Amino acid sequence: MGGLVVSAFVLSSGVLFLSCIFPVNGLSKVRGVNLGGWLVIEGWIKPSLFDGIPNGDMLDGTQVQICSVVLNKYVSAANGGGSNVTVDRDVASTWETFRLWRVSDNEFQLRCLGGQFLTSNSEDGLILATAKHPLSTETFFIERNAGRVHIRLLNGGYVQATNNHLLISTYQFQPGWDKNLATFELVIVANNLHGDYQLANGYGYDKAKMVLEEHRRSFITANDFDFLSWNGINTVRIPVGWWITQDPYPPSPFVGGSLAALDLAFSWAQSYSLKCIIDLHAAPGSQNGMEHSASRDGSVDWPSPEYISQTLEVIDFLATRIGNADPIELFQAGIGLSNVVVDLHYYNLFDPYFATMNSTQNIEFIYKMRAPQLQDLKAMNGPLVFIGEWVNEWDVQNASQYEYQKFGRAQFS
Ligand SMILES: *[C@@H]1O[C@H](CO)[C@@H](O)[C@H](O)[C@H]1NC(C)=O
Ligand SMILES: *[C@@H]1O[C@H](CO)[C@@H](O)[C@H](O)[C@H]1NC(C)=O
Ligand SMILES: *[C@@H]1O[C@H](CO)[C@@H](O)[C@H](O)[C@H]1NC(C)=O
Repeated sequence: MGGLVVSAFVLSSGVLFLSCIFPVNGLSKVRGVNLGGWLVIEGWIKPSLFDGIPNGDMLDGTQVQICSVVLNKYVSAANGGGSNVTVDRDVASTWETFRLWRVSDNEFQLRCLGGQFLTSNSEDGLILATAKHPLSTETFFIERNAGRVHIRLLNGGYVQATNNHLLISTYQFQPGWDKNLATFELVIVANNLHGDYQLANGYGYDKAKMVLEEHRRSFITANDFDFLSWNGINTVRIPVGWWITQDPYPPSPFVGGSLAALDLAFSWAQSYSLKCIIDLHAAPGSQNGMEHSASRDGSVDWPSPEYISQTLEVIDFLATRIGNADPIELFQAGIGLSNVVVDLHYYNLFDPYFATMNSTQNIEFIYKMRAPQLQDLKAMNGPLVFIGEWVNEWDVQNASQYEYQKFGRAQFS
């Protein structure tokens, strides 16, 4: 693996990340910038990427609840899935929440808490929550009118509630938008996944290819590398997704081209004397269910033996390709036989521990807890240690600029 640093499974958050590598074995200090939102899409970094998607509030992973306007009850998958479906809940919770799998702008599959899909594949037209793999009998055409929906099977019948609180798919006429048993209120309760899966599947291949080609061409350019190198930065960290190994034709819905962009980045890095850290940000199967791990619907299918071995293949691919392509650009970690680096991610966020701490306490935490920890790790004469992520953000409300600066200085010292 040469000295390529590949760090996997990181939790990204709000702001530009800076990394720094501490001097070990005579290495000089490395000051790096993360090039987030470029080859792995994170909607919060550039929300406009998603602007052109029809029904853009119904992307993969969007969580919806469905309420009958006549019965005023929510559709519920008993036990969270695996058996029948009723329309009998006054209050919607997890059994009444379905995650969308988008098939087209108007066609969707509905996934229950337990992972099963709603299906029309039953003898009497009942909708059940029993399908493991969604196909056409699990695909529903959703017609929207303000907050209301009609849900139709691909073969014609509309889904309706029955007076005895079941859900069937035998309504053969075009329902109106008044109060009738085939009209439902669609409540979108969470729409927070905006990653590569949502973008590519939301636009469909051709449009997604245009959008991503333009983004990859323009979001990070040689000028940025020039700017960084002029400003004392000597390393960039580049997040990539597992599908980069199958460029230019990765599995649907992913769009090829990220490998060519990475190759360009390496050539710019060479021109401007920057080092590169390649960060496998999205592992096969999704390591954390978040958008930057390219999860389809928030599920976490990593680790499994298969996904772990696929992950290792991705790391091998990157190490081999980059190593062969341009050994000078490899980060020379110099860590002896073990080929290990420790990538630390430090946040005073995401943990209730920090929630009640004021600015002084946050700053003292850095000096009293983190700094000694780093000193210990360095003193162990062990692997190279670097801070792959940190951020100048905290849970303190309404902090002054001065307090932010003190907090930033503490972390950078
Ligand atoms: C749903 O399934 C359960 C368990 O199989 C059964 O007891 C119940 O009667 C069913 N409900 C409806 C409305 O069919
Ligand atoms: C922060 O909390 C500590 C402990 O409660 C307190 O002594 C200190 O005055 C607080 N500082 C600020 C700036 O609020
Ligand atoms: C922060 O400031 C906003 C706006 O001035 C105010 O509404 C809010 O209560 C403040 N929050 C705290 C925790 O002081």
